[in-house]
Amino acid sequence: MNILARFISQLKKPTGFPGLIATKAMNRIHSRITSWGLGFLRIEEDFKILDVGCGGGKTISKLAKAARKGKVYGIDHSDVSVKSSTKLNSHLVDQNKVEILKASVSSIPYPDNSFDIITGIETYFFWPNLESDLKEVFRVLKPKGRLLLVSEIVRTPENEKTIDRFARLADTSDYMSYKTSDELDQLFIGAGYNNVMVHRNTDHGWMCVEGCKP
Ligand SMILES: C[S@@+](CC[C@H](N)C(=O)[O-])C[C@H]1O[C@@H](n2cnc3c(N)ncnc32)[C@H](O)[C@@H]1O
Repeated sequence: MNILARFISQLKKPTGFPGLIATKAMNRIHSRITSWGLGFLRIEEDFKILDVGCGGGKTISKLAKAARKGKVYGIDHSDVSVKSSTKLNSHLVDQNKVEILKASVSSIPYPDNSFDIITGIETYFFWPNLESDLKEVFRVLKPKGRLLLVSEIVRTPENEKTIDRFARLADTSDYMSYKTSDELDQLFIGAGYNNVMVHRNTDHGWMCVEGCKP
């Protein structure tokens, strides 16, 4: 496996030392797209926010800066991601302004109607069952709360080849289940969200989808 393939194979569930390096690299690589996506949200300073698939924890740091009187939670199914994001935000964890747990998006360890905002940066395409996972996220959102999913790659006829190349590099055909923007729009609506909006950054090809719990 070459270096790129090794890196890609760490993105779904970082493990061991290579996984730790991957989480740190993701913090750098995803910083600009994350700031772009978060720019669509109105974050009040007392908000309770959950970041799903928190990886190296940089998104949590950005969110905690905006919600400085609130609290930011992170979940990730990788031990390495939990460790890495906890370390990056250790001062905020110590102040009880951030809490990071090991958990899957399919079973979020918080009660119904908990969060004002839920974010997922570069992660939805790894979720085991997007249809039911979007409903699980919906469950823990407060009424009027917003979900924001951000992705560097959107499935379009033009980038089928890039997506296939990633899958081949990672040596599995179902590795990354990228969706078209229409598919995501429909999945959000099917899970109960309203005011669903798809934003595109045409310079970079980025996309984010946001939806509201009625
Ligand atoms: C490509 S990384 C992105 C990390 C971070 N959000 C960022 O933008 O740098 C994907 C992250 O999602 C996590 N992840 C993937 N599937 C997950 C699931 N089913 N439940 C929770 N976390 C998941 C992975 O462990 C990994 O940390």
